[in-house]
Amino acid sequence: MIIFPDVDLDRVPRHVACVMDGNGRWAEQRGLKRTDGHAAGEQALIDTVNAAVDLGVEWLTVYAFSTENWKRPLTEVRFLMKLNESILVRRIDELDDKAVRVRFLGRRDRRVPPGLARQMDRATARTAANRGLTLTFAFNYGGRAELVDAVKRMVADGVKASSINERQIRRYLYHPDMPDPDLCIRTSGEFRISNFLLWELAYSELVFTDVLWPDFGPNELVRAIVEFQQRDRRFGAVKASIPHGVPPAPGTRQLVG
Ligand code: IPE
Ligand code: IPE
Ligand code: MG
Repeated sequence: MIIFPDVDLDRVPRHVACVMDGNGRWAEQRGLKRTDGHAAGEQALIDTVNAAVDLGVEWLTVYAFSTENWKRPLTEVRFLMKLNESILVRRIDELDDKAVRVRFLGRRDRRVPPGLARQMDRATARTAANRGLTLTFAFNYGGRAELVDAVKRMVADGVKASSINERQIRRYLYHPDMPDPDLCIRTSGEFRISNFLLWELAYSELVFTDVLWPDFGPNELVRAIVEFQQRDRRFGAVKASIPHGVPPAPGTRQLVG
């Protein structure tokens, strides 16, 4: 158990999302192959998961492979498929011991190798009843693909135009029970979303850091959460009218300015 003196443990974001970026540059800086950077990212992931558990984060969603990452050289794509499969095999015991519930967000298309798909299903089934942190791997995930898939299923179900609203659309997302991220962290100094959680990030606080993913860990997570706790989340309302994200009761005095 690590101590986090700077964090207000009563206001820890419930859902943290991470764009785990910068593995290739981390490796290049060391004269290594890009794939060595991906391998080095595994420990950063595990350390981040453990810190999230200790901090009381309930949901952690990590961007592991995007629908656009298929454009990479075949050798790199193959390496990433194997690495993800082997992480699931090697790490599932310790995740399960920590009561982590593992889930996956994304398209299960034919390009996902059967061995990896099998481990994804196993990890999901084995940890389904766990009540600790929900660790969601966004794998073969694209925010636009998620919305396309949602619209397709709505049409297939015969949903009437007049009944479409935001609640209805949410029902057709990959995991309708997943709360929106409160905080989204992107490593590696890039200021973009890269097709991550387009619907769900609508009101998330975004934190960008220059740290490359293999160097990320508990200290960086704490830094991002401290920054999150200094933000004033307004959700379109008036400043300070929404203490800790809870809309004011009717008749509550609102501070303007
Ligand atoms: C993130 O690191 C991992 C994946 C996208 C799978 P990158 O491989 O994108 O690393 P950079 O951005 O090239 O440094
Ligand atoms: C986003 O990183 C995807 C993942 C971290 C899995 P990319 O490296 O693919 O994003 P771009 O290409 O810099 O936008
Ligand atoms: Mg990248």
